[in-house]
Amino acid sequence: MSPQTDISLHPPLPPSARLAAPGLFFRRWIANPLQMGSITPSSPALCRRVVANSDWANGGAVVELGAGTGVISNALLAAGLPANRLFVVEIVPAMADHLAGTLPGANVICGDAGALPDLIPAAWHGRIGTVICGIPLVLLPHAAKQRLVDAMEAVAPGKGFLHFSYMMGSPIDARRLGLAGRRVAWTPLNLPPASVWRYVPTGAPAAVPT
Ligand SMILES: C[S@@+](CC[C@H](N)C(=O)[O-])C[C@H]1O[C@@H](n2cnc3c(N)ncnc32)[C@H](O)[C@@H]1O
Repeated sequence: MSPQTDISLHPPLPPSARLAAPGLFFRRWIANPLQMGSITPSSPALCRRVVANSDWANGGAVVELGAGTGVISNALLAAGLPANRLFVVEIVPAMADHLAGTLPGANVICGDAGALPDLIPAAWHGRIGTVICGIPLVLLPHAAKQRLVDAMEAVAPGKGFLHFSYMMGSPIDARRLGLAGRRVAWTPLNLPPASVWRYVPTGAPAAVPT
């Protein structure tokens, strides 16, 4: 796959998809609250803050893990990210189907983000400007968190990732995962209020007994 340089604004979601999306999100939350981690999709204010901290300069791609109903994906496209340079990974088939139907031209992948190096075409490894992790890391055991962190590092070496959280402090023990983290944005205009964190690798994970 070769990157294209044309930049076209993404059309807004069709009304039928906009109406269907919150219902789909809520049904998935009922089915598996730990996998969803939130009862509603991210608000426009939170999406704007994630987009403002994302980078796709110089032909880079953006990878979004746990895209849900695609609110952040749509905000990225509306901000000018070419659809062919957006990779979204979603583990729930019904949500991946929804994303494929509402994000024309984007690379929608149904799968477990822990297997990211196998899901993102090798030609794009190392050409990713930003990874956005929408998966509720705080709810995962350490080994699963480390697997995701390692998977993101494999496709976007040294880039780290953006993550949003409803907690007061860092939602993950960054040092234990070999990361340094800082809050880059906060908004009260989300249910619940949310922070955007940027985590970057610091080297080898700290040796902390499990
Ligand atoms: C908090 S929701 C975020 C949805 C969307 N990004 C938003 O901001 O509204 C978390 C999403 O991560 C997905 N997810 C959870 N574990 C995953 C995994 N291992 N791989 C890919 N997606 C996953 C869930 O199905 C859900 O859609």
